[in-house]
Amino acid sequence: MGPLEKLHVHHEKLINTIKSLAERAKTNPADTSLLLAYCNEYLVSHAEAEEVTLYTVEDDPNFVNNMIHEHKQVKHSLDVIDAAFSRGEANTLVSEINNFLTLLNKHFNEEENTLMPRISKKISEQELEALIGEAHQIEAEKKKSDVWSLFEYDHKRIDLNLLQMKGSKGNNEKSSEYYSKMRTQLLNHIELEETVLFPAFAEHTTPDHMGPVNVMIQEHQVITSYLSSPADSQGTAKAFEVLQDLIGKLAVHNKKEELILYPMINRELPRAEKERVFKECLDKFMRV
Ligand SMILES: [Fe+2]
Ligand SMILES: [Fe+2]
Ligand SMILES: [Fe+2]
Ligand SMILES: [Fe+2]
Repeated sequence: MGPLEKLHVHHEKLINTIKSLAERAKTNPADTSLLLAYCNEYLVSHAEAEEVTLYTVEDDPNFVNNMIHEHKQVKHSLDVIDAAFSRGEANTLVSEINNFLTLLNKHFNEEENTLMPRISKKISEQELEALIGEAHQIEAEKKKSDVWSLFEYDHKRIDLNLLQMKGSKGNNEKSSEYYSKMRTQLLNHIELEETVLFPAFAEHTTPDHMGPVNVMIQEHQVITSYLSSPADSQGTAKAFEVLQDLIGKLAVHNKKEELILYPMINRELPRAEKERVFKECLDKFMRV
């Protein structure tokens, strides 16, 4: 595979994953968490790496400035999506996701159909190969692998599904649907904390930092005990009472993780380990 083809394959993977996550977010706003986590890790680092490698070969400053300006627009659009997601503004969210996809498509097209052909006329295929290799290297280094925000986004996703479930009181079918979605996601979240995130942290921290982890694991037992009721009992008054208790317990538990444990894990995990944990957990969040 030549260097241009390689770049194309890389772009395809990015854009296809982003498109499918964007569709999910438009159908169920709670899944915006996945789109944001994915883009913050893989798209932002990609753009930053290009600016210091491929873009430096192009010598028309207007053209380069325009491409960099488009990166800024894409980044700004992500911020708008994030704000609409946090505030629960569903309409803004959908229209901004559409805007984001338009910006991204346009940019990828320009990059492949205009920028790359121009660059490949200026340098040899070997030089281009080396430059793309360097871009990949820098892209890997620029990844934030912010496990704190990844898990915090997943809390938001579960909270939103809980809210939607509360809002569907009286509609048993909708209510059961949100319940089973929320239940699967919450069990998956807890499992990933206990089998991936916490063990990785345990390996790289001192035993006195394991106190908060043990408290979280005990709280997980309480939380999962609320999830045992079958989905078909949803919609009943009793189920809504249980739901209210679960929301209260989760709020306290999540705050402790977000304010104490996740920042500690983010600080203490070595880079490569964080990257591995981020990738594995995001992949698994995306499956449910
Ligand atoms: Fe770009
Ligand atoms: Fe690109
Ligand atoms: Fe937890
Ligand atoms: Fe958590």
